[in-house]
Amino acid sequence: MSLLNISILKTDILSMRDFSREEVEEIIHKALELKRTKKTNTQDLNSLSHNKILASLFFENSTRTRESHELAATKLGMNIIGFAGTEGTSVKKGEPLADTARMYAGFEADVVVMRHNLDGAARFVADVVNVPVINAGDGANAHPTQTLLDLMTIFEKFGTIDNLKIAMVGDLKYGRTVHSLLQGLALFRNVEIWAVAPPGLEMPAHCIAEFEERTGTKIFYTPHLQEVLDKAQVLYMTRIQRERFPTSVEGEHEFKKVSGMYELTSQVLTRANPSLCVMHPLPRVKHKLEISLDVDASPRALYFEQARNGVFIRQILISHLLGVQKTKIENKEENGLWRERFVNGQDKKESYLYRLDNGTLIDHLEPGKGPLVHSLLGLERLQTTVVQALNIASTKYGRKDVLAIHNMRLTPRQLWKIALVSERASVNFIEDKRVVQKGTVILPRVLERLLLCQNVNCVTRPEHFEHAPSKFIVEQDKPLRLRCYYCERTCGQEDVELLK
Ligand code: NCD
Repeated sequence: MSLLNISILKTDILSMRDFSREEVEEIIHKALELKRTKKTNTQDLNSLSHNKILASLFFENSTRTRESHELAATKLGMNIIGFAGTEGTSVKKGEPLADTARMYAGFEADVVVMRHNLDGAARFVADVVNVPVINAGDGANAHPTQTLLDLMTIFEKFGTIDNLKIAMVGDLKYGRTVHSLLQGLALFRNVEIWAVAPPGLEMPAHCIAEFEERTGTKIFYTPHLQEVLDKAQVLYMTRIQRERFPTSVEGEHEFKKVSGMYELTSQVLTRANPSLCVMHPLPRVKHKLEISLDVDASPRALYFEQARNGVFIRQILISHLLGVQKTKIENKEENGLWRERFVNGQDKKESYLYRLDNGTLIDHLEPGKGPLVHSLLGLERLQTTVVQALNIASTKYGRKDVLAIHNMRLTPRQLWKIALVSERASVNFIEDKRVVQKGTVILPRVLERLLLCQNVNCVTRPEHFEHAPSKFIVEQDKPLRLRCYYCERTCGQEDVELLK
């Protein structure tokens, strides 16, 4: 097998959630081998990549990540087009992200690497163009190539990632590097994590929940750096992300409160675990250094080597992507609408509370949900009779709401709306006094253009005008758990907000 051909099937590098342990290990090993052999101008590299085009689209500031992708591409004999910052581009004229990306695809770019301030932007672009996309950071969401180089650096130092004690320090709320790193570490065994953050900048609950669910290991939280120093083997420092705080006066105030809260000096490190190493995705901030300059000369400091490792990782990733064929998978609407199909033509019992000869009867709604369902189906706008029976006795549940909609069969999308707000509703289609179909609604695996993502920084939010369609993956039915396909944020039934 060629040095740079890895056996993984990824056609884009978007999130660590998409990776298996084996894939990560293979990438690390290949990158370490490349670093050792310095095998950059060999035939197997050039035959695949020579004169290919990397589109390097950095909508947000970057030094290391952009330069290391571009250097990696240069070493592979590729040409580079793109921009570093949107100043001087048509983005400033209001061009939608999808158009910019399409244009570079039209220029026959072979790989796109992009950084953007919106969560989910890279996956959105990966959906829009038929060119492999590397996510070089999307808002506060993810930074998978950073994680791969972080894991490479950890592996290079310790010879393993399993069983390590790792403390993440700083802005764990907005720092995309730590969100991805946590997902990457979840692939390994028995990794202990401390989350050290100022109040207000803690690791988001959904990141913690995912790690704990996947590994069965609890994350420890503390705002005090000194509590972890004697235990941790890796201290992963991060910058307080000024640009992600609100631009308001309160935002400035919040930022001032927490900036400079952690300062790692060689003095502080005298109390540390002897095997402790210091990492940082960089940049650090010169006004209030989170790692003081006197740490740089210490053998514990890995951060410059960490940045260097990024070039090897990105060489591996780019050359891998040049060898893949990206084809669009169309999402077919699933036809399994019902949990239980009913025998055709069961007679309606005479004792029914309300006689509906033709139409849809929505039964077993939780009390209070009748009016909600009525409004979200837009029934008040329809030219049909709708009768609501609220908070009535139910043999199955004690109390229930019931809706009888005359002369109308609900569409699949309407049925999904019901299932999104009610876990126990059942639906009856009635024709000519007979129940022709009855059951509880099954949600399809993917819900498109139905829900508003509750993450205000998600690329799908209408206020960003990117026209990215809302798309949710139904991860679990009961209790309902949805994940935004783009920004990866999860939500439950309590957060469901249907699109207008
Ligand atoms: C990080 C980023 O952009 O998310 N930097 C990087 O890619 N090396 C962290 C940061 O900017 O603080």
